[in-house]
Order: sequence, then C-alpha cells, then structure tokens
Amino acid sequence: MSPPNQNEQIIPVQDQIDIKKLAEAGYYLDFPKTTYPELKAFKHEDVGHRTDSKKSSLYENATKVFNLTSNIGTEIEGIQLSKLTNQQKDDLALLIAERGVVFFRDQDINPYQGLELGSSHYGPLHVHNVAGHPPNLPEILPIYFGKDVPGTPFERNFTTQLRASDGWHSDVSYELQPPGFTFLKIDTIPGEAGGDTLWTSGYTAYDCLSPEIKKTLEGLEAVHSGKEHADGAVASGKTSRRQNNTHTHPIVRTHPVTGWKSLYVQPGFTRSIVGLSRHESNTLLQFLYDHIAGGYDFQVRFRWTENAVAVWDNRVTSHAAIFDYLDEGKRHGWRVTTQAERPYFDPKSKSRKEELQQKKTEAEQKTA
Ligand code: SIN
Repeated sequence: MSPPNQNEQIIPVQDQIDIKKLAEAGYYLDFPKTTYPELKAFKHEDVGHRTDSKKSSLYENATKVFNLTSNIGTEIEGIQLSKLTNQQKDDLALLIAERGVVFFRDQDINPYQGLELGSSHYGPLHVHNVAGHPPNLPEILPIYFGKDVPGTPFERNFTTQLRASDGWHSDVSYELQPPGFTFLKIDTIPGEAGGDTLWTSGYTAYDCLSPEIKKTLEGLEAVHSGKEHADGAVASGKTSRRQNNTHTHPIVRTHPVTGWKSLYVQPGFTRSIVGLSRHESNTLLQFLYDHIAGGYDFQVRFRWTENAVAVWDNRVTSHAAIFDYLDEGKRHGWRVTTQAERPYFDPKSKSRKEELQQKKTEAEQKTA
C-alpha cells in the first residue's frame, strides 16, 4: 500500500472504487500492519491570505449564502466543491477561517476529488494513526457506524460509559502540526432523524471568558495525546502506525489568517496543563470543557442530508458527532484532513469580538 502523502497519482476513473457502494455491501475498511515514519515539520502557507474580505468569487456565484448562527457556521447553496476555481478555493479558506465551519448540500464530490482538492490547495493530507481506511486510500478516513457495522461504538458500550459531551474534539490535535481543514461528506444517513454533528467556536469560547481567566490561559500550554487511541488499537490487534502521538500546544492560539485568538482545548485529546499540579490541571480543564459543552451561544448543530459536506477549521473549532442512531440505521461518509501550522500564540493578536467591534466603530465614525 502507499505510504502517507505519496498517494497523489491520478487514478483512472475506471479503477476508482465507490466506497458508498462498498459500505452498502458490507464492511470494507482495511487495517494494514504498516507503520509510517513520524510526521515531519513543514512550512505551512495558508491560502486564506491570498484573498480579501469580500470573498466575491464565492458570494457572487452562489445562489444563497446564509449564516446558521451568529457566531459559527455558514451554509452555501449553488456551488459544487468538485468544480471550485482556484480563486473560490482561496475565498473558501478565508470563509472557513472566519466562520469556523461551512456547509454545502447535494455535493457530487467523490473521495478522489476530495484528496485532490485538499492536497493541491490546502496542505499535506493527514493519514490517521490507527483508523481503518478504504483499500489503497490511506488519506481517506471513512465515517462508518451504525446498526450491524463492526467496530461501531456501541460494541464498546460507548453510550453507557461516556456522555455525548465527552466527544468534543478537534481532529488529531495531538500532532505536532495538527489539522487546518477537514472536509467531511456524509453519503448515507441513518434514517429520518439522527446522526447530527455539533461544532463550537473557539473564537467565541475565548471571547466569553472573563478578562482574568483569559490572561491566565494565555500563558499556558496543554498536552494533547492520541495515546489511548494508539493503545486501544494495539490492544485489539491493530497497528499504531506512528509512535509519537503526544505534543504540547498553547491553550489560546492565534489563527494565522484572521489573526483572532481561539481556545484550543477539548476533552477528546487534551490531557493536562503544563506546569500545574494534577488537581489544578484537571479542575481548570474540566471548567473549560463545561464552558465548551454549555456554550449554546457559540455552537451550531447540523442536520445532515445525503451528500452534504461540512468543511471546518480545526484550529478554531471543536466538534462532536451525535451517536443517537446506532440501533436504528447506518451512517456513512468520508473525511479528508489537511495539516496546517504548528499552533502558536501571538500576544499581540486580537479576539474576534474585539476586531468586529473595532470595525463597527470605525464604520459608524465614517458615516457620522
Ligand atoms: C469526526 O469526528 O471527524 C466526524 C464527525 C461526524 O461524524 O459527524
């Protein structure tokens, strides 16, 4: 099988597999015993820098663009991700960075086009340390759970041992250079209802803290770890493909394009705060997890329809899939994830609220 990020040769259409059909036929995920070299540091250039706040190539060509909540989430109609121009890809990068997550319904994009879109424009594709993948497509992470699907969380009593809010995470935040964007297409929905996903805005989670807590957090770093994933895979006879699954990142990070501060911890992979005692660290992290879970004013909940795509910026959002359909139906789709910069905190950066407030004041002064 291909090593990570080398799988970029064009596969002729007649040789391309249809993973939706594979999922309909049964369980198809591959867990090769292959190990991979550690991920190397690289310089990330964010294409969102190449455009301007109008994002006209998207707004002028879409039939409708609307915000799902005031703080996070925008839906676009009338655009196919499979047919974006380079300018639209740049505009989309900026829109995702600003709004956290952008939704598209009725998309024809297939996994091969998803790989091309991610790798040609947004950054090196991430290959998951332990997840199964379709044959010969290690950069595609299938989402495949539900009634009669092996490996589905209910086999591990997921719903009785954990609360839904324990599921908040930012994709593989334990990597040295964790993801920027994730593209997720859901091609099979479990039934009339169920299987929604929630996202929360790290920008507004930060903005909703008191000045004193903000000041405290800005100096701190947290350890993010994928060790439980790796150990769990090995315990079930699978392979942990890389060894180094723990890194330290600032608790408040600055987004390189918007320049806004974002809260960057989540129960999925954050494990401790550097320099604090275990009790201090657990208490502060639990406070932040409750802050995220209870922040209905900075969350968006998306009700999937078949062939909808969500694209989110992991640097400034966390998400939680809702497993309320496991006894009823199957939910299937695929995810492509691009890596971005090593998280950093710029003490001179502003928060989203500060910048929007400043722009409003400037606009009011101009018209006064
Ligand atoms: C994920 O956690 O990356 C997938 C989210 C979902 O299944 O809705």
